[in-house]
Amino acid sequence: MYKIIDGKKIAATLREKLKDNVLKFRTERGREIGLAVVLVGNNPASQVYVRNKIKACEEVGIKSFAYYLPENTSQSALEELIVGLAADDGVHGILLQLPLPDGLDSAKALKLIPEEKDVDGFSAFNIGNLCLNATASVACTPLGVMKMLEYEGIEVNGKRAVVLGRSNIVGKPMAMLLLNADATVTVCHSKTHNLEEECRRADILVAAVGRAKFVKQEMVKEGAVVIDVGMNRDENGKLCGDVDFENVKDKCSYITPVPGGVGPMTITMLLYNTYCAAVRR
Ligand code: GUN
Repeated sequence: MYKIIDGKKIAATLREKLKDNVLKFRTERGREIGLAVVLVGNNPASQVYVRNKIKACEEVGIKSFAYYLPENTSQSALEELIVGLAADDGVHGILLQLPLPDGLDSAKALKLIPEEKDVDGFSAFNIGNLCLNATASVACTPLGVMKMLEYEGIEVNGKRAVVLGRSNIVGKPMAMLLLNADATVTVCHSKTHNLEEECRRADILVAAVGRAKFVKQEMVKEGAVVIDVGMNRDENGKLCGDVDFENVKDKCSYITPVPGGVGPMTITMLLYNTYCAAVRR
C-alpha cells in the first residue's frame, strides 16, 4: 500500500515553526525581514505563483515588496529596479519571477541580484557552493523535496536516485542535493537511451520534465518513492503532474500528489531562504 506525502500538511508545519522564528527575529533585532518579488508581464501562471508567494509572506510575518512591471518593460528599466533593490537595506531577498517576456535577458538581470539576496539559489555562487556541499541558498523546489523526504523519514543514504530532467532550476540542484545526501544519482533527460530502464532502477524517482503524466508504471520499480515536481494541465485542462498518479500509485511506497505535493513546499522554502538570508546578514 502506498502512502501519499501530504506537502500541504508538511508545509503548514514548517511555516508554523518559521513564523515563530520570524517573530523572534523581529522582536530581538527590532526590524522586519523583507522580500522583494518582481513580476514582469502577464503570464497567468506566474501571476498565480507571485500572488501565492506574497500571501505566504504575510502568513509568516515577512514583509513583501511586490513590483508588477508591464509586458513591454525594457531591459534597462528592469535592471535599474534590481540594482535599487540590491542596495536597499530593508530588502533581504530578491525574487525575479521567471520566465521573463520575450526580448528580456533573464541571465543578465539575475546577475544583478547580490548572492546574499539570491533567495532562489540561481546564482553561480550559490550553485557552486551547493556543489561544494557548503552553505548556500538552494533552489526552492529541490530543497522542498529534500525536506519532504526528511519529514517522512525516507532514507536517501546509499539509495539509487533518478532525477528526470536537467533544468538549472530543478533537475541539476536536485541531483546535487541527493548526491550530497549520499545517494547514487542518475540524471535522465530527452537524449537518454533506455529511459524506462533507467527510471525502473530508481529507489527514489524525481520527475521534473514538464510533461503531463509522463511517468507510467513501466518506469517505476515496485516499492519506489516517487516525487512529482510537475505542474501541467491534462487534456481536460485539469492540473496534473509529470507522473500519471492513478497509473503509478500502486507500485509506490510513497508518492506525492499534484496539487498538494511539492508545490506548497516550494513556497515554504522561499520563505525559509529569505529568513536565512536575513539571519546571515
Ligand atoms: N518560475 C518557476 N519557478 C520559479 C522559481 O522557483 N523561482 C522563480 N524566480 N521563478 C520561477
